[in-house]
Amino acid sequence: MTSNHGRVLRAAAMTLTGLMALSGCAVSQPSAPDDVNSLQQLPDTTASSEAEGGNTRLTGLNRVTTSNERLHMYAAHLELKDHPQISRATRESVTASIDAFLADHQDALDEDVTAKPELNINSQAASADPSVLGVSQQIYEFAGASGANSYRTQWFDVQQDREIPTGELFSSSEAWDHVRQMLAEQANSKAGIDLESVTDLPEEATDDVQFTTSGDLQVQVDEYLIAPGSEGTIVLQLDAGRIDGLLSDLGRAAQGSVVEHDAAPTPEPVPGTSESDSATPEEEQQQNTPAQVPDASQVDCREAKCVALTFDDGPGASTGYLLDSLKKEGVPATFFVVGPNAQARPQLLRRMQAEGHQIGNHTFSHRSLPALASSEVAKELLRTDEAISSATGYSSTLVRPPYGAHNKDVDRIVTSPLILWDVDTLDWKHRNTNKTISTAMDEVRPGSIILMHDIHASTVAAVPGLIRQLKDKGYTPVRVDQLFAHSKLSAGKAYYRGEHPAS
Ligand code: NI
Repeated sequence: MTSNHGRVLRAAAMTLTGLMALSGCAVSQPSAPDDVNSLQQLPDTTASSEAEGGNTRLTGLNRVTTSNERLHMYAAHLELKDHPQISRATRESVTASIDAFLADHQDALDEDVTAKPELNINSQAASADPSVLGVSQQIYEFAGASGANSYRTQWFDVQQDREIPTGELFSSSEAWDHVRQMLAEQANSKAGIDLESVTDLPEEATDDVQFTTSGDLQVQVDEYLIAPGSEGTIVLQLDAGRIDGLLSDLGRAAQGSVVEHDAAPTPEPVPGTSESDSATPEEEQQQNTPAQVPDASQVDCREAKCVALTFDDGPGASTGYLLDSLKKEGVPATFFVVGPNAQARPQLLRRMQAEGHQIGNHTFSHRSLPALASSEVAKELLRTDEAISSATGYSSTLVRPPYGAHNKDVDRIVTSPLILWDVDTLDWKHRNTNKTISTAMDEVRPGSIILMHDIHASTVAAVPGLIRQLKDKGYTPVRVDQLFAHSKLSAGKAYYRGEHPAS
């Protein structure tokens, strides 16, 4: 495939909307807006967030994750509280890519092919200022033969709640043209690139304008756009001095927020969004009240009918409500968290820890691990281990590979057991509370590991009913470590079901 494959598909997506409605695909619209709506009906106690660091004071950024286990699709985008147009634009940007991907791979996905197509979209705040917001997307798309990364950054006027063309970061259209000319000249100094003028520079080549910590302007130009694919992604950079005087007020604010932000002693780039980490002492105290979860030593899963509730891809905007429910029911669970979501909501990880739940590693970028080089697999796991331990002080001892996908190479690198599942609620697909419960109840057996996703409000809403029905059938919900309390788990080995009475 070519790198602008995704872009072409995105353009085609609009005409495919009707087709997608017939396809029954989980993540195509309109299912996602329903989920978002149902989230908005919940009181907003966990969704408030704040771009961290420096003097940036943009509040209300919220990371929203969509995933589809069967189709190897994972997408995170940022929404801004009380800014419906901005939130719609960021959401539509990823859903257009998702719909196009699903439409393109519909046939292949129904078959059990070894090299699954994959779509992975990660978003992070490039600039976050009360006047201007930049949201960068890194899109990885694998079409069954080769994969490609592409990059884009959307810019928003926060006060006016609207998306702006990149050119509005500059003082005039002439200033923007001048910047594009300088970018074209710099591109020409690289191997295999021959651009006569700014008019030779495709629009897409400058759809990823960002600012660096030193105030320089940087653009990542996707593969194949202006150079042979062998050159890969082309990075162009203009020193701060060269764009001085060319920026608009919004552009200066965008540039300033990055420089100011990174002046703060924060080693990592802003991980998408970051929830305000300033819980009051009372809140911390309340959150750390010991949970009413059963003592692990009280349950012997070789005798009792145990079941492990596991939640992937979070923590999300409704995970706080899930923790409330679990606490009320006195039930522990296991959360397989994704690194950026853990970084964005560290206080939820602390709550999980304090309330007796277990936290496992679901990688950083949610990429299908068999597609990655060994060093990348290790990095995916390490970065999320660090996010978990920096939030909680504890190390994760469990890994759940995205999509349950692993191979011998992955098994060799992973230093924890791989916890898969034997009951898939397909909650990501139907987003239906009753169906989540009935699927789980139909398939559960002693020792089961049930797969759910706490990024969906429909799943969070299903949990109290599911717990009641499980208890009615004599099940004891336990954490994964409790489910394997008498087993010696091996690193790199996959487990689908835990201890259970001999039958
Ligand atoms: Ni997942």
